[in-house]
Amino acid sequence: MTGRVLWYSVFLLFGAFVGFLDATYQIGVGISDCTGPSAGITFMGYAKLSQVGCGIHLRQFARAFIFDDGNSRAAYVTVDTCMIPHGVKKEVISRLKKKFGDTYGFNNVILSGTHTHSTPGGFMMDLMYDFPDKGFVSESFMALSDGITQAFLNAHNNMVEGRIFLSVGEVLNANINRSPYSYLNNPEEERARYKYNTDKDLVQLKFVRASDNVPIGAINWFAVHPTSMNNTNCLVTSDNVGYASLQLEQYINGGTIMGKGPFVGAFASTNLGDVSPNIKGPKCIDTGDDCDFKTSTCNGSAKYCIASGPGDNMVESTKIIAERLVTKAKELFDNNKGEEVVGPIKYIHRFVDMPKQEITIKLANGTEKVVTGCSPAMGQGFAAGTTDGPGDFDFRQASRSDNPIWNYIRDLIFPPTEEDKACHSPKDILIASGRIKVPYQWQPEIVSTQLVMIGNVILAAVPGEFTTMSGRRLRESIKNAIIENGGPKNTRVVITGLSNVYTSYIATFEEYQVQRYEGASTIFGPHSLEIYQNVYTGLAEALLKDEDLPIGPIPPDFTSKLISFNLPVVFDAAPEGKHFGDCVQEPPSEVARGQTVTAKFIAGHPRNNMMHGKTFMAVEKLMPNNSWKVVYNDANWETRFKWKKTCVLKGTSEATIEWDIPEDQEPGTYRLRHFGNHKIILVGLVLPYSGTSDSFTVV
Ligand SMILES: *[C@@H]1O[C@H](CO)[C@@H](O)[C@H](O)[C@H]1NC(C)=O
Ligand SMILES: *[C@@H]1O[C@H](CO)[C@@H](O)[C@H](O)[C@H]1NC(C)=O
Ligand SMILES: *[C@@H]1O[C@H](CO)[C@@H](O)[C@H](O)[C@H]1NC(C)=O
Ligand SMILES: *[C@@H]1O[C@H](CO)[C@@H](O)[C@H](O)[C@H]1NC(C)=O
Repeated sequence: MTGRVLWYSVFLLFGAFVGFLDATYQIGVGISDCTGPSAGITFMGYAKLSQVGCGIHLRQFARAFIFDDGNSRAAYVTVDTCMIPHGVKKEVISRLKKKFGDTYGFNNVILSGTHTHSTPGGFMMDLMYDFPDKGFVSESFMALSDGITQAFLNAHNNMVEGRIFLSVGEVLNANINRSPYSYLNNPEEERARYKYNTDKDLVQLKFVRASDNVPIGAINWFAVHPTSMNNTNCLVTSDNVGYASLQLEQYINGGTIMGKGPFVGAFASTNLGDVSPNIKGPKCIDTGDDCDFKTSTCNGSAKYCIASGPGDNMVESTKIIAERLVTKAKELFDNNKGEEVVGPIKYIHRFVDMPKQEITIKLANGTEKVVTGCSPAMGQGFAAGTTDGPGDFDFRQASRSDNPIWNYIRDLIFPPTEEDKACHSPKDILIASGRIKVPYQWQPEIVSTQLVMIGNVILAAVPGEFTTMSGRRLRESIKNAIIENGGPKNTRVVITGLSNVYTSYIATFEEYQVQRYEGASTIFGPHSLEIYQNVYTGLAEALLKDEDLPIGPIPPDFTSKLISFNLPVVFDAAPEGKHFGDCVQEPPSEVARGQTVTAKFIAGHPRNNMMHGKTFMAVEKLMPNNSWKVVYNDANWETRFKWKKTCVLKGTSEATIEWDIPEDQEPGTYRLRHFGNHKIILVGLVLPYSGTSDSFTVV
């Protein structure tokens, strides 16, 4: 037994004896609006160029949690965005450095995206990921950086003595595997160890104030793609998990204004790579038949094979999935049966150049083989898309396109080398993204790998989307390494998905062989997962031995080279005889509960100002003292802010405000309001305006 292991055991024993009276941490929670440009910018996720924003259903929020054990501090932030790229983390860390010196850095801060597919893109910097957005969109990038930093500041200024509880519960009716054909290629003995082909555990950390046990926050991890809203949606939304967060917060905070209360409740991403919320499963939408199991096609084409449910439409499905998650989260939250998390906080981080990794693996017949990571490349199955959102062209998952045009185009742009082809085999390379450096990097080669330990809970921050089985294998490797090095036997490893850097998918070697979407999007080749298992095992070992690892190669900075074909807003204009904020369609004078009420206003472009902490619309109620009180804003589930151009040449546009009046809404006098900003031609000055509808009675 090494000295450290001995001390660790003594520490634990001692802790057990004194009942860890001192098992408190300093804990800070914070939330902030990080909504990007809600109109005119393509959403990030489905890579569908035509999925351009047209308003807001639910706002984007960043939720920050800071933990300090007296010696060591770590932070976790989950953000309503598709993923976190290196550029955003770098920006946030550099802002935090200016305020707090070395308190927060790459090593002890995890930034994770929830993976909603319905928020504006263009913030990635790595060119391939910004393509659908016609390059870099600084408004998206700044909105995330501002919002995440603000959430952080709120948490930092809000530290209290608190306790942490861990609970786990199963949610059986909120996810399905969207690539069961790939999953089935994993070894039978391995599959036999698990009851389901997706993870069903909802893992919850609950934080309470030590002085009075008042809940201050919670993080819930459940493996599911936030793709209940499909690629025809153009309203910004945090999707199923985002709505679940809002509901949990409302449950504790009360009231109807989102993102304002003291309690912060998050639903965050984990190993959701092959996991869909569309639990009715895929069907041929033209014929109603089952899709082809291997290729997810209907009559040879991926376009008609689409998964949906459990609701009749995507909004209803979002709501149902959110409610199923929230129901379980509340149950865990309320029953107070969670085990208390005790023990030190530690963290470790290393940048790793994936194509340069070399590891020795053992083959089934016992021989050893040296394998390497590959230079990034996407396979044909990637372009087929998934049953959550199929691609636009004639690609199929797990199948080679017979159309020679694609290889022709590929070789014209940048041909893969023979080495790439061999390294990625059996992938049919469609984009040799790692070889293309013009005008700058297309996909990252250097990834961020990181562990944060809070007592027996290990947060494993991973730079992409691990599939179900990849996640299970990684968790097991880390747990074994922790225990082998004297860590707690009851270690619980949580994969925090889409963190710090984004590199698409990580499928198992066996899943990779069939080259469905997830395998085709495993960019460092067939041995990606084994390399990660090796790297994270090394991290776990060093973490417990308190060893410093070299920081590794620093990801390149190409901020000075960024290109963008997104034109700025040139100017806004009101039609002749009208003013910004004029209500051009008034609501009826009386509206029944359960109905939707609508008003239209002359508007400016939402890109002029993201209105963080404010709103593009409000429902106001007339109070007995004749003042108007805001009862809903644009972050509420019950409201929608929609924006559209009415004449491109004249620069005119219109905002539509909708409110679904709940069945239990208090009757009375209400009105709808719109707030915005318009840009004046030539001078470029942006000025605020507002508009108010006639009042109406809710009966
Ligand atoms: C399937 O495709 C073939 C050839 O494109 C076409 O002739 C046939 O009608 C299609 N069948 C269905 C059920 O759509
Ligand atoms: C998206 O969902 C709507 C229902 O809300 C459905 O009509 C439409 O076919 C779906 N489209 C795709 C591409 O999934
Ligand atoms: C073990 O299997 C690998 C790959 O299947 C093969 O290349 C190798 O020759 C085998 N070695 C022995 C000793 O059978
Ligand atoms: C009117 O009443 C509301 C509560 O009903 C209160 O919040 C508000 O401050 C009051 N306004 C004025 C001007 O008294």
